[in-house]
Amino acid sequence: MSNYPSLLIRQARVLLPNGDFITGDVLTQNNKIVQVSSNICADTSVVEIDAQGLTLLPGVIDPQVHFREPGLEYKEDLFTASCACAKGGVTSFLEMPNTKPLTTNQSALDDKLHRASQKSLVNYGFFIGATADNLTELLTVNPTPGIKIFMGSMHGDLLIDEEAILDRIFSQGSRLIAVHAEDQSRIRQRRQQFADIHDPAIHSQIQDSQAALNATQLALKLSQKYHRRLHILHLSTGVEAQLLRQYKPSWVTAEVTPQHLLLNTEAYSTIGTLAQMNPPLRSPQDNQVLWRALRDGVIDFIATDHAPHTLEEKAQIYPNTPSGMPGVETSLPLMLTAAMDGKCTVSQVANWMSKAVAVGYGIPNKGEITPGYDADLVLVDLNNYKPVKREELLSKCGWSPFEGWNLTGWPVQTIVGGQIVYAQGKVNPQIRGQALSFGG
Ligand code: DOR
Repeated sequence: MSNYPSLLIRQARVLLPNGDFITGDVLTQNNKIVQVSSNICADTSVVEIDAQGLTLLPGVIDPQVHFREPGLEYKEDLFTASCACAKGGVTSFLEMPNTKPLTTNQSALDDKLHRASQKSLVNYGFFIGATADNLTELLTVNPTPGIKIFMGSMHGDLLIDEEAILDRIFSQGSRLIAVHAEDQSRIRQRRQQFADIHDPAIHSQIQDSQAALNATQLALKLSQKYHRRLHILHLSTGVEAQLLRQYKPSWVTAEVTPQHLLLNTEAYSTIGTLAQMNPPLRSPQDNQVLWRALRDGVIDFIATDHAPHTLEEKAQIYPNTPSGMPGVETSLPLMLTAAMDGKCTVSQVANWMSKAVAVGYGIPNKGEITPGYDADLVLVDLNNYKPVKREELLSKCGWSPFEGWNLTGWPVQTIVGGQIVYAQGKVNPQIRGQALSFGG
């Protein structure tokens, strides 16, 4: 039995599963959408939300985030990160295993699931990290969206840069393998070559396009060899996109981040190390090729790779500065602003940020506004523009690479499982999300 009221969202511009919009009402009951219609009569016990002039989209599912708990809570934790999600219209997230301890076995996964049940305002799932010696765990742990392999840009147990070990992991089991595709041996060699340079712009040359391409080619080769479900995380280069355009088996998917679409190497001159991430930002030409690949379906969906670090850490001198930037609070308005600028449609954005992710990871009943689906929804305002302001950010790191960008499509209300988790500029810290299931 639910202990919270039904919601009746009135006269929104509602995105339908076929990509069309109707102006109409959406009724939720318990955690489900129960009716979508031009005009719904409901009894007085429902909570009515006047959504005139607003657009209703399925809640965002962000399939790549680093929320730092346990072990690195000085950067972010599951409560602060999930508050940032609620504000950004992100109703579900898939989190990466490079926490402390690493998420490489069932007990570490159980610990994260327990922590999230206590602290997360939105729905959650956690990847299992591959090491050289946890194959049994990779085959058996549950629930998880898949196996994360760092082929590069990592140190310690999570780095797997030997083809023989990768081959062994690809050869056994059938669950999804998600790769961070960068060639560590090339990065190592180029790091030495450019060791005297402290301008962070060198980061994009050290971890260059060739390093990304080498690793993506290897992952594709192994996936092809075993017909293994492969997902390529944060695709960053035009050459990788061109490779996938020529050759992409049906069991392979790829994602791109808003920053690889919207930022490029020019950003180092304005925001310095805040632009440093892995894989690095590329050229304006790469931006264009990635956009085209996304629009053409070569790239399947969007992830933020939300990877917060403190401003103190980012203020060090390159290469001592950590790579990564936050993203969950700004991803939806960034993409909707791009849609309003004519780069794509609002319905494509909703597909890339919700439906296609649910399909890619087999997350049942999410990503569409239709009866029987989960009531994970976001109401956005596409009529007004507002800048990204540091002082309004909820992520613990307290900065964004997009500060000052004037964006539209900001969430006005976010609903998780039929409960309002964000409204009138405030999160409701009492709401808790649910563990996601996979393979549906
Ligand atoms: O820039 C990055 N930072 N890329 C990653 O893949 C990892 C991340 C982090 O955890 O900081």
